[in-house]
Amino acid sequence: MRIGVPKETAPGERRVALAPESAKKLIQSGYDVAVEAGAGEAAGFADAAYREAGATLESAPESLLGSSDLVLKVGPPAVNGQERDEARWMRPATIYLGSLMPLRNHAAVRALAERRITAFSTDAIPRTTRAQAMDTLSSMANIAGYKGVLLAAAELNKYFPMLMTAAGMVPPAKVFVIGAAVAGLQAIATAKRLGANVVATDVRPEVKEQIESVGGKYVGIELGEAASAGGGYARELSAADQARQRELLAAQVAQSDVVITTALIGGVFAPRLLTAEMVRSMKPGAVIVDLAADGGGNCELSRPGETARVGGVTILAPLNLAASMPLHASLLFSRNLTAFVQAFTKDQRFQLDFADDIQQGALITHDGEVRHARTRDALQKGAE
Ligand code: NAI
Repeated sequence: MRIGVPKETAPGERRVALAPESAKKLIQSGYDVAVEAGAGEAAGFADAAYREAGATLESAPESLLGSSDLVLKVGPPAVNGQERDEARWMRPATIYLGSLMPLRNHAAVRALAERRITAFSTDAIPRTTRAQAMDTLSSMANIAGYKGVLLAAAELNKYFPMLMTAAGMVPPAKVFVIGAAVAGLQAIATAKRLGANVVATDVRPEVKEQIESVGGKYVGIELGEAASAGGGYARELSAADQARQRELLAAQVAQSDVVITTALIGGVFAPRLLTAEMVRSMKPGAVIVDLAADGGGNCELSRPGETARVGGVTILAPLNLAASMPLHASLLFSRNLTAFVQAFTKDQRFQLDFADDIQQGALITHDGEVRHARTRDALQKGAE
């Protein structure tokens, strides 16, 4: 089985789907690994490191993709139809494995279906114990939580920690984290390590203990209706609960030096939680980092991909933050993909088994059809 790793070409993307250490592992398991020349360069992996691992370097992406049985990618295949048309270059029945984000990337899904590619998206795998090692969403959210706090600390006009200096004492910064799943918990832990006072909230009350275990203080409202939608995801709050949550947020935000938002509904859609009025209530110099910017943003003043300054408050809304730490992002992403490949290959062949819960959850297109129900619905809605 030949595994192909093309260079990522999306703007700002610096990650690569397979790091040399994982390439070596797959080669030792008996696969051929071919990597596009320069694919790992932006992440810090030279071509020589792949060669040393036993991989073949290819300078022509078209023949690389056309000769691969399994293609590993970070993002969706390029389908711009101009210099690079990765979906068309793959042969029918080739397996694509990567983070396709199918609910957002409709053109890529359509192209994969038309080309009869079997596409697995790692952001659609079930959140089960067995799937944990393959979970690229978690690996990347962890990086976003960590990096988001560093961006806030660099932007803030004061220290995070309490300091006793010869010139007197400075109090610690107050950090408020909204949404406490993977990104939020990492943000709490990172802000705490930097010495801030950290308060956090979520609509799933079961996360209280997790917030406390990484050093945060939990605040929350008693919900009229449960917000857990199963699988650890939240559902949208009722209008009454939203109004009560707004009061809690308004009080916390006004006191905070830094607000980090990570809230998502169903893992995709970002509820608007911070209003312009809440932003205006913050102290001059305060910083908001909207880590839900990829899903549209949790703050109504966020401009995804840009920095907004409103009064004295800075609002950062970084996109694809994981790509800003490409070495570790690629290393972890590629371990996730390698775990997926190794779980489902036998005698050096990928074993399609749609009765398996992980394959079933992650399968987006197969044999000319869109097989993922939520993606099918999203495509239909998009076409209306
Ligand atoms: P996510 O990125 O989908 O959501 C972030 C957080 O925002 C969630 O905790 C959600 O409850 C919260 N949220 C939504 N609306 C909110 C609001 N109005 N106010 C405040 N907070 C709000 O979460 P992620 O990181 O993808 O994790 C989702 C779930 O999956 C979690 O329960 C997590 O523990 C679980 N998980 C399980 C894994 C496994 O077992 N393999 C791996 C990774 C995550």
